[in-house]
Amino acid sequence: MATRAPAGLRGLSSSVRPLSVIVAALVISLCLCTPATSQQEEEEASASASASASAGQRQRYGFGRFVRHARDAPPVSSHYSYIVVGGGTAGCPLAATLAESAGGGHVLLLERGGYPYGNRNDGVVNARARVLGGGSCLNAGFYTRASGEYVRSSGWDARLVNASYKWVERELVFRPDVPRWQCALREGLLQAGVTPDNGYTFDHVPGTKIGGTIFDRTGRRHTAADFLRGAHPRRLTVLLHATVSRILFKRRGAGKPVAYGVVFRDRAGVQHHAYLRSGGGGEVILAAGTLGSPQLLMLSGVGPRAHLEKHGIRPVVVDQPLVGQGVADNPMNSVFVPSPSPVALSLVQVVGVTRFGSFIEGVSGSQFGIPLHGASRRRTARSFGMFSPMTGQLGALRPSERTPEAMRRAADAMRRLDRRAFRGGFILEKILGPLSTGHVELRSTDPNANPAVTFNYFRDPKDVERCVRGIETIERVVHSRAFSRFTYANASAMEAAFDRAALAKFLNLMPRHPRDDRPLQQYCRDTVMTIWHYHGGCHVGDVVDQDYRVIGVQGLRVVDSSTFKYSPGTNPQATVMMLGRYMGLKIQKEGLIGK
Ligand SMILES: Cc1cc2nc3c(=O)[nH]c(=O)nc-3n(C[C@H](O)[C@H](O)[C@H](O)COP(=O)(O)OP(=O)(O)OC[C@H]3O[C@@H](n4cnc5c(N)ncnc54)[C@H](O)[C@@H]3O)c2cc1C
Ligand SMILES: *[C@@H]1O[C@H](CO)[C@@H](O)[C@H](O)[C@H]1NC(C)=O
Ligand SMILES: *[C@@H]1O[C@H](CO)[C@@H](O)[C@H](O)[C@H]1NC(C)=O
Repeated sequence: MATRAPAGLRGLSSSVRPLSVIVAALVISLCLCTPATSQQEEEEASASASASASAGQRQRYGFGRFVRHARDAPPVSSHYSYIVVGGGTAGCPLAATLAESAGGGHVLLLERGGYPYGNRNDGVVNARARVLGGGSCLNAGFYTRASGEYVRSSGWDARLVNASYKWVERELVFRPDVPRWQCALREGLLQAGVTPDNGYTFDHVPGTKIGGTIFDRTGRRHTAADFLRGAHPRRLTVLLHATVSRILFKRRGAGKPVAYGVVFRDRAGVQHHAYLRSGGGGEVILAAGTLGSPQLLMLSGVGPRAHLEKHGIRPVVVDQPLVGQGVADNPMNSVFVPSPSPVALSLVQVVGVTRFGSFIEGVSGSQFGIPLHGASRRRTARSFGMFSPMTGQLGALRPSERTPEAMRRAADAMRRLDRRAFRGGFILEKILGPLSTGHVELRSTDPNANPAVTFNYFRDPKDVERCVRGIETIERVVHSRAFSRFTYANASAMEAAFDRAALAKFLNLMPRHPRDDRPLQQYCRDTVMTIWHYHGGCHVGDVVDQDYRVIGVQGLRVVDSSTFKYSPGTNPQATVMMLGRYMGLKIQKEGLIGK
C-alpha cells in the first residue's frame, strides 16, 4: 500500500509531529481513488471533456489561444510585466485581472498542474491542489464571504472588497438546489438555537443560512480557471506543468534584493527561465498557496537563516525567521448520522454560524464528494472521496493509529458492508480561527516534494472549548424535531445499524454523556480531521506588508491563503478569489500610476 503513495508523501508521516499525520494520511487515502478509476470511466471522462471545452469556446477567446504546456516554452523568455506563480484559487483571478488592462503588458501564469477541464472528478482524489484552478477544482464548492469585521481588521478597502466579491460571484457562483436532508439540517440548526434564519445569503452573520456554490444546476463544477477565459491572448500566457523552483534576485548596490524572474521546470525536467521585462516596474507574484508560497520563498533564499543553511540553500537573500510560521488548519470534527431512509447526495449548502466560534455544516448521500450527475452516476457506489463514510469514519481512529495500512484495512472492511450502514450524512463543525498555530518547513530542496507541516491542532484550550460547544450543538440538531426523519427513532436502533456494520469501533457514535465535558474534549482531540482550510505561513505584517509585498526585497508579493492569519468566513474560497481580484485591481492601478 505505502508504495502506492506518491514519493513526496511517503515519508511525511514519519518526519512530522503526530497530529500532522492526519493530513498526510488523508492525502494518502484520497490518492487511493486514482487507481480505482476504470478504463471505461476514463473514456467517459474524456467524452465529457469535449462538452466542457465547447462551453469554453463560447467565450471570447478559447483557452487554446494562451494555455500551453511548459515543454513548449522557450528556454528563456523575458518580456513579462508580471509573473504569477501558481494558477490556483487566488492566482487565476489575479492573473486574469492583471491581463485585463491593455497598458499592463504581458502576464505569465505558471502552474505546476494540468488542465482542469475534461475530467469532472479532477482532484476529488487529492488534498493539495495541483491543477489549473487550484483548490477550487477539488473543494466542496461552498461559497460564503468573510465578515465585515474580518474585512476591517485586514485593513482592506471595503468598497473594493465588495466589488471584487461581486466580480467573482457573477462568474462563478450559483444558488444551490437544497435537498430535504439539507433543509432538515437548516431547520434543525434553527431549533437548536442557531438563530436567526438568514435565508440565502453570502454574508457572514450569526444564525443559519444557505450559501452559494460553484456547482451549477446541472452539477457541473466551475473553477477559478474560468476567470481566465475572457483574457486576451496577447496579454496572458499560461504554462501548465511548469513547476517553479526558484525566484531570481539581483542586488543594485546597497539596495534591497530585487526579484527579476523565476526558474521553472517542465514535466521532462527541462529547466526554463522567465524574466521580467527590463526597465523595471514588473513583479513576481506568488500565489502558490499555504504550503507552496512559504516553501518557494525558502527555496529562493528568503526564510530563517539556520533552516536555509541546513538545507544548503545559498545565498540567504533575506534572513526572515517568520516565513512558514503561523500556519494553521481549522480542526474539523464530524458526526456520521445514519438515516433510516435513503438520502440524496449533497455537499455543503447550509451553515450555522454560532456566536461562540463554531460553524456547523453537513454533507449527505451515499457517495460523498462526487456530484451525482453524468458519468459519475455510474461510478462505484462507494467512493473513497473526501467526506466519504470511509475516510469520515476513520476520523474516529486516533491520529497516531492512522497509518496508511490502518486506513486501507478499514476501507477494505467497509467495502464489504451492508449499504445501509452508509445511508445518512455527516454533520460537521469547524471552529473559528483557530488560535493554535504551527509551521511549514522544508524537508528537502526538491520543489516537487511536499514540505513538512505541523498544525498543533487544539494546542490552545479555547479551540477545544469551541469544538465542544459545536459538538453539543450538533447533538441538539440530531435530536431536533426537524431532523427526526433522518435519524433512527432510538439509540438502540441506531446502534443496531452499526452492529450490522460490524464496525462499531470505527464509528463516530454520538457521545453518551453530552453534559460531561471531558469525554467531549477527548472526542474533539481523538476525531479531529482537516477541512482543508489551512492558511498562513506568509502573514501580513510578518512576511508581507499591507500591500502584500514581501518585506526585505523588492518586486515580489504573495497573494493567496498563506497571507491569512485566520480563516475568513466559515469557508475561505470566496475570500481567496476576492483577494486575487482585489490585489489584481490594486497592482494594475499602481502600475499605471508608476508609468
Ligand atoms: C478537499 C477540499 C475541500 C474544500 N472545500 C471548500 C469549500 O467547500 N468551500 C471553501 O470556501 N473552501 C474549501 N476549501 C478550501 C479552499 O479550496 C482553499 O482555501 C483555496 O483553494 C486556497 O487557495 P490558494 O490560492 O491559496 O491555493 P491553491 O488553490 O491551492 O493554489 C495554489 C496553486 O499553486 C500551484 N503551485 C504550488 N507550488 C507551485 C510551484 N512551485 N510552481 C508552480 N505552481 C505551484 C498549485 O498547483 C496550485 O494550483 C477546500 C479545500 C480542499 C482541498
Ligand atoms: C459590503 O457589502 C456588505 C453586504 O454584503 C454590506 O453590509 C457592506 O455595508 C458593504 N460595504 C460597503 C463599503 O459597501
Ligand atoms: C428501538 O428500535 C428498535 C428497532 O426499530 C426496536 O426494536 C425497539 O423496540 C426500540 N426501542 C425503544 C425503547 O423504543
